[in-house]
Amino acid sequence: MTVVDYTGIKKKDAETVASVLGIFLADLQIFYANLRGFHWNIKGKSFFALHAKFEEQYDYIAEKIDEVAERILMLGETPENNYSYYLKLSSLKEVSGVSCEIEIVNTILDTYKILIDKERVILEIAEERKDEATVSLMSDYIREQEKTVWMFASFLEAQCKQ
Ligand SMILES: [Fe+2]
Repeated sequence: MTVVDYTGIKKKDAETVASVLGIFLADLQIFYANLRGFHWNIKGKSFFALHAKFEEQYDYIAEKIDEVAERILMLGETPENNYSYYLKLSSLKEVSGVSCEIEIVNTILDTYKILIDKERVILEIAEERKDEATVSLMSDYIREQEKTVWMFASFLEAQCKQ
């Protein structure tokens, strides 16, 4: 017996959802490493606010990484933990040495655009396969991250009016 024998999700369906979640996990891991760099390298007038905000963001993404990896396990598969693998799978680029606040916030907004698009696709794939737990996870992420996008976009608007 494996975990899928108890959840009512067909093995083939569980494999499909776990596979798209594996790619999403790679994206989250690259984003996490980028956010660490943003937290360390930020400079300028908004240093204190953004240094703390980026820490809040990498803590948030770390939570999602664990949730997604554990969901993959619940679907009967094994999540990857190597960055070499993540780099091959993720559509996100590694970012390093950026200290300009506008450049960083734009990169975060661009990243969330990609992640939210992927969450919508995963939600649909999971919904078609009656994987309600993954649907609910993606639905929460979209709601939370659209709020984050609104806040960072508002920060950029204020910057432009100065
Ligand atoms: Fe720190």
